[in-house]
Amino acid sequence: MPDVSNVVVRPACAVRGAVRIPGDKSISHRYAMLAAIAEGTSRFQNFSAARDCQSTLDCVAKLGCEWKRLEDDGAIEVRGMGPRLTAPAEVLDCGNSGSTMRMLSGILAGQPFTSELCGDESLSRRPMARIMTPLSEMGAKIEAAEGGRPPLRIHGGSLKAIRHRPEVASAQVKSCVLFAGLFAAGETVVEEPMRTRDHGEIALRAFGAEVERIGNASRIAGGQRLRAIEAHVPGDLSSAAFFLCAAALFPGSQIALPGILMNPTRARLLDILVQMGLKISVAHLEEHQGELVGTIEARGAAWKGTVIAGADTAALIDEIPVLAAVAPYSEGGLEVRDAKELRVKETDRIAAVAANLRKMGAEVEERPDGMRILGGQHLHGAELDSFGDHRIAMAFAVAALRAEGETTIVGADAAGVSYPTFFEELRKITE
Ligand code: S3P
Repeated sequence: MPDVSNVVVRPACAVRGAVRIPGDKSISHRYAMLAAIAEGTSRFQNFSAARDCQSTLDCVAKLGCEWKRLEDDGAIEVRGMGPRLTAPAEVLDCGNSGSTMRMLSGILAGQPFTSELCGDESLSRRPMARIMTPLSEMGAKIEAAEGGRPPLRIHGGSLKAIRHRPEVASAQVKSCVLFAGLFAAGETVVEEPMRTRDHGEIALRAFGAEVERIGNASRIAGGQRLRAIEAHVPGDLSSAAFFLCAAALFPGSQIALPGILMNPTRARLLDILVQMGLKISVAHLEEHQGELVGTIEARGAAWKGTVIAGADTAALIDEIPVLAAVAPYSEGGLEVRDAKELRVKETDRIAAVAANLRKMGAEVEERPDGMRILGGQHLHGAELDSFGDHRIAMAFAVAALRAEGETTIVGADAAGVSYPTFFEELRKITE
C-alpha cells in the first residue's frame, strides 16, 4: 500500500487560477475559546479546518462547552458557558498546537479547578515558561515538566492584574495574559517588545470587551463579560503565502485569492513580496468583526532578494520557512536575522530549512538566529523531510515546483495541522 503521508511533487512551469483559502487559524482558535466563555451561542463561518483548531474545539468540549458543525461548509456553532467552565474529567490534549496550550492556559488560570494539558512529541518540547511566569504572578499555580515544558497542571482560582513585559515578542503570550486578565481583579497590561498580531485584542472587542491599545501596550480590565457573536473567519494569509510564493517562482503566473485576512499586523508579508518583485493588487476590502479582509491578485515577475530582520522577523515569523525555501531561485537571495524563535516552533525551522535546501543542492549558511541563502541557485528534486512540521512540508512542496526532477515530501500529512487540503489545491493550480 502506498504511504499516504509521502507526497511527490513534480516540476511545474507556472501556477494559474483561484484558491479559496480556509479560515485563519489564529482567529479560529481565539473565536472558539472566547465563544466558550461568552454568554449565548456563537456561529462562525469558514472556521479553520486545521487539526490545530480541532484540538482547541476538543479541549473546550472537555470543559463542558458544546459545539457542532453546521451544514454550511466550514460553519460551526459554539454554545457559550459564560465565564465559568466545568472541571475537565480528562487531560486536555492540545495535540501539536502551541496556540491551544498557551492561550487556553490563560482562561484556565481563572477557573476554580485544576486542569492538565498535554501535547504531542513536538509540543512536549516547546517552552511554556513564557506563560507560566505571568500566570503565576497573577496567582495561578502551575506545574510543568523539567525546563518548563508540557505537560502542564494548572490550579486556577482568583487572579490579580499584572503589568507584563514579555521577553519574546509573542502573540500567544499576549493573548494568554489578556484572556487571564478577564478573570483578574484590576487592569492587566501587556507591553510587548515588538508589535505582534493583534487578533486577541480584536476578538475580545468583537465579543464585547473593552481593550485599550497604546503603542505596544494592550490593557484590559477584569470582570468584563463576553457576549456571543456571529462571524465569518477571513482566509488565512499564512496559508495564502504558499500560493503567493509559488506564483513568485514563475514570471507570468497569475493567482487570485478571495476573502483573505488583511490585518496590518499580518500583512507585512505583502510588502515584502512586492519588494521582492511579485506584482500584487488587493481589491474588495471589507471589515469583518474588526478584521480587514480583501481579495489578493498576484502575478509573478522577476524575483529579487531581501533581508528580513528585527520587527519584520516577528511580523513574518510563520512565513519565513516558505520565503527561505524559494530564496535560492531569487536574484539576490535572502538573509534572515533575529529569528531565534524559529528554533522553538513545531520543529527547529532554521535547521529544517537548511537541511532540506542542502538536500536539493543549495548552499545555505545557518546561523544561531537566522540564515543566509544565496540567490541564483539551481536546485534538484530530492527526498525531503517535513520534520513533522506543517509549514516545512508546504514550504518545500512549493520549492519543489522549480527544482529539476521530482521531490518526495516524507511526512507530508503534517500539512493538515494548518491546511488539510493544501496538496489538492496546489495540484489544481500548477501547470
Ligand atoms: C500565533 C502566534 C505566533 C505564530 C503561531 C500563531 C498566534 O506564535 O508563530 O503560528 O495565533 O498568536 P508566537 O506567538 O509564539 O510568536
